[in-house]
Amino acid sequence: MSTDADYKPGLEDVPAAKSAVSFLDGKKAVLEYRGIPVEVLAKESSFEEVSWLLIKGALPTQKELADFDRELRQRRSIHFRLKDIIRNMPGDGHPMDALHAAVASLGMFYPCHTVTNPAKNWDATVRLIAAMPTLVAAFARTRRGDEILDPRPDLDHAGNFYYLLFGKEPTPAIRKVLDACLILHAEHTMNASTFTARVTGSTLANPYQTIASAIGSLSGPLHGGANEEALRQFEEIGGPEKVKAWLDAKLAANPKYKVMGIGHRVYKVKDARATVLQEIAEHMFAESSRPVGYETALELERVCAGIYGPKGIYPNVDFYSGVVYSAIGIPTDVFTPIFAIARVAGWLAHWTEQLVGNRIFRPEQVFTGKNDQKYVPLDQRP
Ligand code: ACO
Repeated sequence: MSTDADYKPGLEDVPAAKSAVSFLDGKKAVLEYRGIPVEVLAKESSFEEVSWLLIKGALPTQKELADFDRELRQRRSIHFRLKDIIRNMPGDGHPMDALHAAVASLGMFYPCHTVTNPAKNWDATVRLIAAMPTLVAAFARTRRGDEILDPRPDLDHAGNFYYLLFGKEPTPAIRKVLDACLILHAEHTMNASTFTARVTGSTLANPYQTIASAIGSLSGPLHGGANEEALRQFEEIGGPEKVKAWLDAKLAANPKYKVMGIGHRVYKVKDARATVLQEIAEHMFAESSRPVGYETALELERVCAGIYGPKGIYPNVDFYSGVVYSAIGIPTDVFTPIFAIARVAGWLAHWTEQLVGNRIFRPEQVFTGKNDQKYVPLDQRP
């Protein structure tokens, strides 16, 4: 029987799986996908190539990448009935809830009941990566009364997502920013949503259910949902000159107040991804005036470094991503779905890994209830 001594709240420091997908050193801000630093991939690679790298374990050959790219292009479209399902979702619902339901529905159109057929597993893997941007964009358009668009076979993953959302091609610079953001969010060791994917996958649930579970986990404000909250926070503050007074007031009301977009279970220095996103933001705003939200974020980072830096609490990936997405014109509640569009690659890499020598997750509990209670019939209870 487990005791308090065995219990680690939040499974802190408890290895939950063996994995070769990515490596994270939170003290040195090192994040590698299959041994390659994420900063290098964000500059040099593409989301398509990174997805292959994560799932297959090595960079693709030229032919492998060309074939994978073609397979993705073939699977971006969604069934007309799935479009109807999305059209009938409540327009004021959250896009993460829509994505969760749409991904589970996708699996009903392309059943993959058993996970023992490698060809079917690969089909589902490609379809999930390919279709997620289509699903997110479909809901984002239909809720504002716009027609759902079909993917364009001449555009790549990032370019298609932008097109499906806005009905026009992105500029090369915006396409590159989106692609880099997808790369930066594609994988991050044993975080809550990846663990969720592995737990669901360990039951031999179908891949669509596995990814839907992970989407649910990512939606929370302590995980992927923090990117929305971070941008709302900058808006609430209202300008760099108001940062100090805002934080003082929050801490006076609640000394344990959590600033969104900072802090991390593993990182004790600034998240490498936050640094790259900040560089992207600097580049984007180099020839225009900086948005108030970005100026506010910079000042909040500076003020927080003085207060929380000594505790090892610094900006995480969610601190600057919202500023970048907002500058591209993406609605705030679509930020976390973009995170999911990227992270599906990591989830599927872990799912593929989990299925090799799989054992169902079944942890222990520390029982804190009572034993030997009597059942009192209802008519004898007050
Ligand atoms: N603001 C202020 N203080 C913080 C913050 C924060 N954002 N994060 C942690 N702390 C403090 C806590 O108050 C606590 O202080 P104490 O030791 O004095 O009690 C200490 O740091 C440890 O905090 P925990 O919440 O116990 O740390 P945990 O590892 O469980 O949580 C988490 C990590 C959830 C990311 C946390 O830092 C947080 O809530 N951050 C804000 C939300 C956020 O940005 N989430 C995105 C994370 S990245 C991602 O998921 C993609």
